[in-house]
Amino acid sequence: MTHSRGTAVLRGVDGDRTVTDRLLLRTVPGAVDYLYEDLRALPGAEVVSRRPDGLVVDWSGPLRELADIRYFATCAVMLDDLDARVGAPDGAIAALAGPVRFRIAPVGEQRWELRDRLVEKYGWVNETGDWTANLDRVGEDLVAELGPLFYPRRFGELVRAPASTNPVVAAVMVRLAKIEPGQVVLDPCCGAGTLVVTAGQMADPGALIGTDLRDRWAMATQENLAARRVPGLGLMADATAMPLPDGSVDRVVANLPFGKRIGSHADNQRLYPLVLREIRRVLRGKGRAVLLTEDKRLFEQSVQRAHGLRVVKEIEFTRPGAHPSAYVVAARRSGR
Ligand SMILES: C[S@@+](CC[C@H](N)C(=O)[O-])C[C@H]1O[C@@H](n2cnc3c(N)ncnc32)[C@H](O)[C@@H]1O
Repeated sequence: MTHSRGTAVLRGVDGDRTVTDRLLLRTVPGAVDYLYEDLRALPGAEVVSRRPDGLVVDWSGPLRELADIRYFATCAVMLDDLDARVGAPDGAIAALAGPVRFRIAPVGEQRWELRDRLVEKYGWVNETGDWTANLDRVGEDLVAELGPLFYPRRFGELVRAPASTNPVVAAVMVRLAKIEPGQVVLDPCCGAGTLVVTAGQMADPGALIGTDLRDRWAMATQENLAARRVPGLGLMADATAMPLPDGSVDRVVANLPFGKRIGSHADNQRLYPLVLREIRRVLRGKGRAVLLTEDKRLFEQSVQRAHGLRVVKEIEFTRPGAHPSAYVVAARRSGR
């Protein structure tokens, strides 16, 4: 079973104090349904509206309960009525520790007037480095993003590879993998190990292995696993010839080279069929793989041609300049 809810670390905010506020939880398109589902399980959450990349929520409860949800990247107070929201004694801003340290994005003509008002009227401190609130515009809305609820502050910063997986996308992929306790989980193209770390945090695998062609990334995976105290291995290996016996893995999660920043479409034409063949070989009978790529046509064709694999689900994560999909691929029992 995967636990979508983690154990967030909250610093710089009183996570136990009951807060009543209208919040914007921003995520990646593709993760909104999962965020919605987790929120519905919390009695203090009432979803007011849905956006392509987030949900507006009327929240009443401790921020800790919200912070444990992995399917949002940022949490912001909606400042539709600035004085009411900034001054609210039961609002989320009042839960921030000490005087609010804020920065202000180019929110429009009133940017500097707003900055001065926050300093003079509310005693906020304009601090561009170590800030607890970030004033910004999201579409038409003025919002204050809460620093302590940023994903990396809640769940820890990882060493990153150039094409590291977005952590919210990683959380959705791990959930799609439906990892049962004790199962063997493999990421054959692990980069810096975002997916293996997330799998170790969200599930209770029996063994967790990340492999990458480059030693540098195998080491980064080891480092990230150790830093998060997640038991697992980072190894150098070729995903097209894995040093693992047949039928030894229950779940595969991987962010494949898209052929843009990492590799090329021509490389993928060779790589994808071979990696899929290896995945089929190492997967046990009822195994499943969750594979992220933007080279989608090639991927779909490669699955069709691979013996004994089929796509059972696709979730698209639209992001600025990228439209990758996570494919859930299941092993056909008779196809080996
Ligand atoms: C998109 S990145 C993975 C990012 C990773 N999920 C993360 O969050 O850091 C793809 C990785 O696949 C690795 N790779 C490419 N070809 C490979 C192969 N034949 N065997 C193993 N790894 C390979 C690259 O070195 C790269 O680190």
